[in-house]
Amino acid sequence: MRRRQTVAVPARVSIYDPIHIGIDENAASVLLPLVYRNLLAGGEPGSGKSGLLNNIVAHAALASDCRLWLMDGKRVELGLWRSCAEVFVGASLDHANARLAELQAEMDARYDRLDTDGRRKITPDDPVQPIMLVIDELAYYSATAGDKKQRELFSLLLRDVVARGRAAGIIVVAATQRPSADIIPTSLRDLFGYRLAFRCTTETSSDIVLGHGWHARGYDASTIDPGQPGVGWLLAEGGIPARIRCAWLSDDDIAGVVGRWAS
Ligand SMILES: Nc1ncnc2c1ncn2[C@@H]1O[C@H](COP(=O)(O)OP(=O)(O)O)[C@@H](O)[C@H]1O
Ligand SMILES: [Mg+2]
Repeated sequence: MRRRQTVAVPARVSIYDPIHIGIDENAASVLLPLVYRNLLAGGEPGSGKSGLLNNIVAHAALASDCRLWLMDGKRVELGLWRSCAEVFVGASLDHANARLAELQAEMDARYDRLDTDGRRKITPDDPVQPIMLVIDELAYYSATAGDKKQRELFSLLLRDVVARGRAAGIIVVAATQRPSADIIPTSLRDLFGYRLAFRCTTETSSDIVLGHGWHARGYDASTIDPGQPGVGWLLAEGGIPARIRCAWLSDDDIAGVVGRWAS
């Protein structure tokens, strides 16, 4: 029988608050302000990507000021959060593209509004709420499912939303298990202000997530022990990578958060 746990969370959680994703080498909490930013995570299967996404989704689900959009080609990774999400896209690439086009239109409408008001970005006192789009297994949509035209449309829409969404309060968090240049072209990778490389099979894939040259400077996710899922190198815009260990939410923990969301 599934046990429903009580999860201790502050009375009010905001998407504008930094999100706790784990601890660093000094056991200090790693807190990521995700509003106005995007995050890309890569790593081999079983390296901890979905665990990271669960931490972020939990925060967004509990936040009273965030709309949650989830895309999960496998359906079961983010499936536990389905009831908390405004949008849930499973295996259909057409569905994913239709929703991305909708998000793009929403982004344009937000910029029109900001422009009219003479403002530069969405703020906490805005009636318009940030939207967090979380994509697990990005490669499923960009390189596996559907036909070439559909996949190209997906990549085009995603690139635009990642490139322009930030000031409009659109946050993209994406994970991929095949960090290769065809799935994450440099031009797309560089749009993500945060990059997290979990264990990768090669130095090259580690560099594809973090950026060219990092492995040669000692920041190489292919040397992470496979027995340590959840450990990865986190790079924040302009900084140097930091080794972190992500927090882990069990299915019961997630059920607890979903229960709290529903109450
Ligand atoms: N932060 C973590 N702490 C402890 N165990 C973890 C952590 N992240 C992942 N794991 C373990 O590794 C397994 C695979 O993790 P998962 O996040 O599903 O990997 P991926 O999505 O990269 O395939 C999990 O089922 C869990 O047992
Ligand atoms: Mg996964």
